[in-house]
Parts: sequence; C-alpha cells; structure tokens
Amino acid sequence: MSAFSVSGFQDQGDAVARLATALGAPVQMMRVHRFPDGESMPVAPAPASPTIVLYRSLDRPNAKLVELLLAADAWRRAGATRLILVAPYLCYMRQDAVFHPGEPLSRDVVAPLLGAAFDAIITVEAHLHRTSDLATVTGRPCRNLSSVEPLALALPAYLSPPLVVGPDAESTPWVQTWASRLHGDAITLAKIRRGDRSVRLKSPGPLNAEGRSVLIVDDVASTGATLGKAAALMLEAGAASVDVAVAHALTSPATTRRLLSRGIRSIFSTDSVRHPTNAATLAPFLAQAVREIGNQA
Ligand code: R5P
Repeated sequence: MSAFSVSGFQDQGDAVARLATALGAPVQMMRVHRFPDGESMPVAPAPASPTIVLYRSLDRPNAKLVELLLAADAWRRAGATRLILVAPYLCYMRQDAVFHPGEPLSRDVVAPLLGAAFDAIITVEAHLHRTSDLATVTGRPCRNLSSVEPLALALPAYLSPPLVVGPDAESTPWVQTWASRLHGDAITLAKIRRGDRSVRLKSPGPLNAEGRSVLIVDDVASTGATLGKAAALMLEAGAASVDVAVAHALTSPATTRRLLSRGIRSIFSTDSVRHPTNAATLAPFLAQAVREIGNQA
C-alpha cells in the first residue's frame, strides 16, 4: 500500500495527476453530486491509503471552500485517518488586517476553518506580510513553500545579472532572495494602493535601470495594476527588457494580453493556478513537502 493517495476535483485534475506522479501515489478523485437546489456533495471512494493528500488550489475560492470542507468530512467518514491539504494558492490571506473600520479579518476566519478540517496544510508563497507563521492562524503544522527555485529554473538564462524589482516594501526579503539566486541586485518600490485596481508606485531612490535586464517579482498578480505600473516605471527609466516572475497568476486573459502589449517581454508563473503564463511546475516541490510533513507526528 502506498503511504499516500492523492485526491482532488475534476477541474484541477491535471495538477492532481502531476502531484500524484511526483509522489508515486495513486489518484482517488472526488465525485461531486450536484443537487438541483445548488448544493453539492463531494463523495469519497474507499481510501487506498490511510493518509489522503487533498489537492485544491483556492483561487476563486468562494465556490470551492464549502465543497472542500465537505470533502474533508467525506474522507474521514470513509476511513481516512490523516488529511493533508495541498492548496498551492491559499485564499483570503491578503486581508490579514482590518484595514478600515467595519471590515472582517478574513485570514482569521478562513485559516482556522481549514485547520479544523485538515491535519496539515501545504501552500506556496502565502501572502503572509503580517503573519509570522501560518501554523499560528491555522492551528496545524503548515509548510509555506517558496516559489523562487521553481520559477528560477523556468527563467531563461540572463546574459548579465538582472535588476530584480519588488513592487512594495513588504516584498523586500523575497526580492533579496531572488537577487541572490540570480546573482543580480535588488530594489523595492514603495506602493500606495488607492483602490482595487489603482496603485501608485514610487522609487525610494534612483532606479539605475538604464540598459538593464529587469525582472519584476511578485507573489500575486490579480488586476495586474501593480505589475503594469512597475513595468512602466522601469521602461521609463530605460530598462532594456522587463520580465515578470509571479508565484500566483490570477490575471484575466485580457489583462495578461494588455500587460504583454505594453512592454513586458514575458511573464512566468507557477502552475499554482492554471494560467497561460504557467512556466514552473510545483509538483516536485509539493511532493517533497508532502513526504516531509507526512513523516512528522
Ligand atoms: C500585494 O501586497 C501583493 O504582493 C501584490 O502586489 C498584489 O496583490 C497585486 O495585486 P494587483 O495585481 O491587483 O495589483
């Protein structure tokens, strides 16, 4: 018997299969019954292993969260003794503070729900700007994997070390990791968000981008406003080329095309969310994390 079985939902079946292959584990997909009233019921088969690795990347999460919680319950009732959630994109982590009166602290609502349903959680580049450790908000052992190595392996070789650009102060440690991985240098911009689709970026000092290959790195691209502004700033400063490496690409097809038509040479993303810019496969890194967390306790 394999130590793990990998499960998931049909709409992410390709990513489920990649993880199962990397783990050398069987696939046991959920079957989802949809009731006429709009409710749904994920049904688990008899578990082929005591530990079930449930893959569910949580982009566009509202429709997925309830089914995921039901799926965890279904697996436990079917006999699984341990459930590991692999959610390469972990939703609702960006609302990690009450920024304005009357708002919820979404991170502290969603993370404990997942912690109550799963024994361990693996994710990638969770937005933890104000969270020291995911385990403290989920109450479970967690792995928050870096996307730097998978993305770096997918980038073309630069002829000269690139200038790595982070769009906001919070990206500073990440940008430095990137710069050292690529033997380049790093700058971080200052971002003021004026609305969901409107940001202002400023450089704290001279950009020194004239004739340089620039790589803009970000954990999430959603409306693309941040990347668009950062790229424009670097092109105005004379960058010879601007590429983007983003862990989680959530941009619409139209936004992606617009970014590429306005001077960004290439966008590289991980396959945490299926997207035309996917260049880096996370499966081997996720599989390693599953093995490590699976061997604990
Ligand atoms: C913000 O803290 C994140 O790191 C991203 O910069 C942000 O989520 C990108 O959002 P958008 O694409 O909507 O500008």
